[in-house]
Parts: sequence; C-alpha cells; structure tokens
Amino acid sequence: MKRVILLSLASALPCLAAGALFAQQIGGPGRDAPRLRGPEPFTRDTPAPPMQRQITDDVRRRRNYPDQPPLIPHAIEGYALDLNANKCLSCHSRQFTEQSQAPMISVTHYQDRNGNFLGELAPRRYACLTCHVPQTTAQPLVENLFTDIRELAEPERQGRR
Ligand code: HEC
Ligand code: HEC
Repeated sequence: MKRVILLSLASALPCLAAGALFAQQIGGPGRDAPRLRGPEPFTRDTPAPPMQRQITDDVRRRRNYPDQPPLIPHAIEGYALDLNANKCLSCHSRQFTEQSQAPMISVTHYQDRNGNFLGELAPRRYACLTCHVPQTTAQPLVENLFTDIRELAEPERQGRR
C-alpha cells in the first residue's frame, strides 16, 4: 500500500511542475502572449469581431525572399477552386496570360517533385491557396522581427568595396 502511494506521489510531482511551467509560459496577468479572442475570459461568450477588409489594390507586393510565394493583390471572392474548376488558371496559366495580362505561373508550377518538366500544371500546385494568400488590413498581433537578407548582408557588402 505504502509503495503505491509513494509511486503515485512520484509520478504526480513532475506533472505539477510541468503544470506550473505551462501556466507561466501562457502567461498570468501582464504577460505578452497575444490573446486571439481578446481580453474577455474564455468562459464568456463574445460576439465575433467583424471580418477584416481584404487588400485588393492590384499592386504586386515585394517578396521577402526570392522563393516566397507572392501574395495575391486582387479579390478572389467567389473564384471556384475545386475538383472540376480552377478559376485561377483561367488567367494565370500559360494559355491565358495574353488575354488576362496576369503574370504566368512560374516554371516550378510545371515541375514534379523530382524536377521533371510536365506538359501541364503539376498536381501538387493545383490548390493555389495553400501557398498564395491575400492580405487584409488587420493589425499584426505581435511585432514582426523579420529582417531582409539585404540588410543582414549590407555590412559585408560594404566591407568588400
Ligand atoms: C481575372 C483574371 C485573374 C484571376 C481569375 C486570378 N488572377 Fe491572380 N492576377 C491577375 C492579374 C492581372 C494580376 C497582376 C496584379 C493585378 O492586376 O492584380 C494577378 C496577380 C496575382 C498574384 C501576384 C503575382 C506577383 O508576382 O506578385 C498572385 C499570387 C495571384 N494573382 C494569384 C491568384 C490566385 C491564387 C487566383 C485564384 C484564387 C488568381 N490569382 C485568380 C489576374 C487574375
Ligand atoms: C506548393 C506551393 C504553391 C502552389 C500550390 C502554387 N504556387 Fe504559385 N508560387 C509558389 C512559389 C514558391 C512561387 C515563387 C517561386 C517560384 O516561382 O517557384 C510562386 C510563384 C507564383 C507566381 C509568380 C510567377 C512569377 O514568375 O512571378 C504566380 C502568378 C503564381 N505562383 C500563381 C499560382 C497559381 C495561380 C497557382 C494555382 C494554380 C499556384 N501559384 C500554386 C508556390 C506555389
């Protein structure tokens, strides 16, 4: 009997410690973890915030690194993207860019995972929205600390001159 109690005590202690650590990490009052649902306690129902407005100004955004999937700068509401239809391709595929004046999907979209060139869009690139996303006017919840490689490399470039 004694052994059982001792054993269960021994296994409970690490759990308690982990619990305390977790509580510390997700933050008591004053911690900076962003709360997606706002300041209300999670036990209270609150009305959903309004949908954010999409940015649809047709201005192509700079990429943060060369192989970043470019952001979508136009409206995509109501565009079919399912087994039978892919509205995106009606402007962005090689055949249709003359009429649409949209940038063509790049050569990587015509390659399989081994780099072989295919005659048409690679199946793994069919669901455009898994990689390309529109932006909204929402304010970021946390500060963005991303630094462009050009800024990182600048001291080195100057040293070489
Ligand atoms: C009616 C034609 C049309 C359709 C349909 C369309 N696009 Fe576009 N897309 C454009 C044009 C034109 C541009 C160039 C920028 C602009 O005018 O908005 C563009 C720009 C883009 C860009 C930015 C490219 C870059 O280099 O910055 C992405 C990414 C993109 N579209 C993805 C999509 C996706 C994903 C879909 C489907 C959900 C889609 N587009 C549907 C015409 C279209
Ligand atoms: C698996 C992720 C992925 C999917 C799925 C995908 N793309 Fe891309 N796309 C990228 C990446 C990464 C780039 C930038 C580097 C490159 O060209 O490969 C890109 C580039 C582009 C560009 C810019 C081409 C250029 O030369 O400037 C357009 C336009 C585009 N994609 C449209 C689409 C459309 C339309 C679809 C759906 C039919 C699609 N993409 C599916 C990842 C993806």
